[in-house]
Amino acid sequence: MCGIIGFTGDCPAAPLLLEGLERLEYRGYDSAGVALLHRGRFLVSKTTERIGDLKAKTDKGRALKGSIGIGHTRWATHGGPSAENAHPHLSEDGRFAVVHNGIIENYADLKAELQRHGIEFSSETDTEVVPNLIAYYYKGNFLDAVLRAVGRLSGSYSLGILCCDYPDTLIAVRHFSPLIVGLGSESNFLASDVTALISHTKRVAYLEDGELAVLNPNHVEFYSSEGRPIHKESSFVNWDLAAAEKGGYNHFMMKEIMEQPRAVRETVEPRIKNGRVVFEDIGLDEERLKTFNKIAIVACGSAYHAGMVGKYVIEELLRLPVEIDLASEFRYRNPIIDHKTLVIVISQSGETADTLAALREAKARGAHILSIVNVVGSSIAKASHSLLYTWAGPEIAVATTKGYTTQVALLYLFAIWAADILSTAPKAQLEEMLEGLCRIPEAIEACLEERGRIKDMARRSCYIGSIFFIGRNIDYAVALEASLKLKEISYIHSEAYAAGELKHGTISLIEHGTTVIALAGFKPLADKLISNIKEVKARGAFVVACATEGNQEISNESDEVIYLPPVHPLLFPLVEVIPFQLYAYYVAVCKDCDVDKPRNLAKSVTVE
Ligand code: AGP
Repeated sequence: MCGIIGFTGDCPAAPLLLEGLERLEYRGYDSAGVALLHRGRFLVSKTTERIGDLKAKTDKGRALKGSIGIGHTRWATHGGPSAENAHPHLSEDGRFAVVHNGIIENYADLKAELQRHGIEFSSETDTEVVPNLIAYYYKGNFLDAVLRAVGRLSGSYSLGILCCDYPDTLIAVRHFSPLIVGLGSESNFLASDVTALISHTKRVAYLEDGELAVLNPNHVEFYSSEGRPIHKESSFVNWDLAAAEKGGYNHFMMKEIMEQPRAVRETVEPRIKNGRVVFEDIGLDEERLKTFNKIAIVACGSAYHAGMVGKYVIEELLRLPVEIDLASEFRYRNPIIDHKTLVIVISQSGETADTLAALREAKARGAHILSIVNVVGSSIAKASHSLLYTWAGPEIAVATTKGYTTQVALLYLFAIWAADILSTAPKAQLEEMLEGLCRIPEAIEACLEERGRIKDMARRSCYIGSIFFIGRNIDYAVALEASLKLKEISYIHSEAYAAGELKHGTISLIEHGTTVIALAGFKPLADKLISNIKEVKARGAFVVACATEGNQEISNESDEVIYLPPVHPLLFPLVEVIPFQLYAYYVAVCKDCDVDKPRNLAKSVTVE
């Protein structure tokens, strides 16, 4: 959560920091601030509003002098959103300024210790101990003091640090929280992610956990956690600014919804050669694949829902047991896994703290880790034995859309690839699925063409108080995602239920006029779902069904039907989710909600 940026160069820093913060705002947006170092003093400006307010307050940064500075956009953990709690935080003596992403777990002990030395604190944050600890250890050498201070910290942190005595120097520290260094010409940057600096440089260096960087306008030095100089390769980012901008849409979410045909195509097509799935450099060969006696899928939120589709499909094609866990549960439940377990970790950002911790737990128990990740060079990508990137491009909206569909598409590819190698499913079935997968982008396009209808439906229902999504098998997995999409951005209470489970309690909530959306794509259980539709109709529900074109039976039983193009029955989730991404989007727009930055949320959840 939280986004941090830093700059040292030969031009005014504040406009660059504010521009970068705007691009990082999706990471957290309950307050923000910048600190510039000018003539040995810090100039600090903060807001409890959005970055736009900070720009207005500072005349787009022109009011803040200085060619070196740090900035922060916050997702509150310790202390509510207030000017005092907003970053940057200064040491009590005013010598150091710090921005921080993550959580300092031992901050209470450190704070008490520093208080015993007479240091006074002015915020409720965990972060404020950092500049004060550095000041406590400072004997004239900036790097030494930082090394000593971070040696005392536990938890997760990426830090940007300035010292009044070093007018050009910015220190970056990474420990279990993302941080990259952008290498420019006569200017260098640090940032939580590439989007913040792509308009200035595409050459970046990814810091590893425990590493530090000392940035000056003309050079950057990298150090290990012990302070040993280290060499670091840089790499070029292969996408450009347009990919991180709205491109004419009102919201990133709509842009990203519309990008799905391309994103799925780019994720799938390069991996199909001569009618077979080819994963180059996956780091998982036939011999190792044969050793697994089960698969465990671990993820959070929408990535977990993608994994749920994967569970049904992998079990169907591989006939191997597949467990699925929320990462936050898995990491603390003493899971029964060993070297015979393949753990599939799914994460768009590659930085989700619970998912990363679950990965480490699984790795420590000997499991082989295959990760499905979107962000290149992210912590999860680096920590895995095997890796498959979703080539979705940057996803900015907090509500994931193309991140989810590309994860699902990759899970299908994985299942087909593994079933082909292990000969666990008929070749004809695998070929048919692969052909079907190649046609999915067109089918998604067809769903997107129908957005006018979905918009009308959203307008009619945007003030309902509660809604239920039901489905069976893979439709249930989609129901979970459809429901999350709606509640996270439109704030409508929504539940997703396995259709057969409703009658075990939740059906008592159905009353006259309650909207129930019945997902009916999974043909083998269509009759069972129709019985469930009848059950809720009998209790007064208004039923909207979602089915393939020509399904007359479902139309007879429902009040309204959303028809989708015919696709391979097992691949239906990839089209079925589209109307409900659109539905959530239009409901949120209709209710005037902040679509890209829903309340209380952040894109990348780097805290436990
Ligand atoms: C989805 O719309 C959410 N914003 C959220 O559930 C997200 O999928 C989850 O936090 C996991 O994120 P990750 O894929 O980056 O790990």
